[in-house]
Amino acid sequence: MAIVYLSRCLPESVMGEFARRFTLIGRSTDHPATRAELLEAVAVVDAMAVTLADHVDAELLQKAPRLKVVAVYAVGHDNVDVAAATRRGIVVTNTPEVLTDATADLTWALILAVARRIPEAERLVREGKWEGWAPTQLLGGDVFGKTLGIIGMGRIGRAVAQRATGFRMNVLYHNPHPLGPDVERALGAQGVSLAQLLQASDILTIHTPLNDSTRGLIGKAELSLIRRTGCLINTARGAIVDEPALIEALEQGVLAGAGLDVYPEEPRVNPRLLALPNVVLLPHIGSATHEARVKMGMLVLENITAVLAGREAPNRVGVA
Ligand code: DGY
Repeated sequence: MAIVYLSRCLPESVMGEFARRFTLIGRSTDHPATRAELLEAVAVVDAMAVTLADHVDAELLQKAPRLKVVAVYAVGHDNVDVAAATRRGIVVTNTPEVLTDATADLTWALILAVARRIPEAERLVREGKWEGWAPTQLLGGDVFGKTLGIIGMGRIGRAVAQRATGFRMNVLYHNPHPLGPDVERALGAQGVSLAQLLQASDILTIHTPLNDSTRGLIGKAELSLIRRTGCLINTARGAIVDEPALIEALEQGVLAGAGLDVYPEEPRVNPRLLALPNVVLLPHIGSATHEARVKMGMLVLENITAVLAGREAPNRVGVA
C-alpha cells in the first residue's frame, strides 16, 4: 500500500476513508507540524496532504525520493513551491469550489460585523455595561444600497457578488481578466481599474490568490485612495495587504474599519491591530464549516488517489 502523510488530523469521515485506502503516517493532532517532522515524513512517503501552515519548499521537495503528489487542504496554495515541485515531476493539487460558499458567507459576516460594529456591541452586553437603548449608541453604517468593490473575481469573488444583490448594492470589481458582458450582467457587476475601484467603493473585499503579482497589492498609496468612511475586508491572504500601512491608515482615520480573517504571519496578529476598536479579527475561519471541511478532505483524498493510480489529478494546480 502507498504511504501517505497527513500533516493534520482531518474530519473523522475523511480520516476513515484515507485509512481504508492507504498506509497513513503523520499526525493525529490539530497542531501544526514542525519543520523536522515534515523533513522526516517526506523522506519516506508517496503522497502528502498538507495545510496552508506547512511550507513545502524546494529544500523539502529535494528530500522526497518517492513523493508523487502534494495535496493542499485549501484552495490557496502559496505555501507550496509549485515550480520546484513541477521540476521534480511532483503534482500539486488544491481544493477549489467546495469552500466557495462558506468563504463568501464568512466574508459577508465580516462586512456586516464591521459595518454594524457587532463585536463591540456584543462586548458591551457581555461586560454588563449596557444601560439600555440610546439614540446615538453604537451607530454603524448602512450596507444596503452602498458600493461594494471586489478585488479578484474568481469563484469566491463571484459568490460574494451574488450575495450583494439581496443588499441592493452597486457592485464593482477589479480582475486581471475582465468577465464577459453576460457574466457581468448575471452578477450585476461592473469591471473597473484598481484605482477606480478603490476610489468608488464603500466596502472593499479581497478575493485574489497570493502570488508574486498580488503580494503587497494594497499598500499605502492604494489605501489613501479609499474614502475615509470606507472599510477593507480580507478573507484571502494576509500578505496581499501591506499590514503596517493598513494599521497606520486605521489608526489615523484614513480608513474607517477593517475585517480580517487572514494575516501575513499566521498565527501572529500584530498587537496594534488588537488595540483597534474599528477592526474585526477572526482566526482564518473562511472555510470552517463542517460541510466544507469534509468536502475539502474528500477532494484531497481523490487527488491523491488519482495521482497514485497514475491518473490525472482532478484539481492539479499550475505554476502561477
Ligand atoms: C483556503 O482554502 O485557501 C483557505 O484560506 C483555507 O480554507
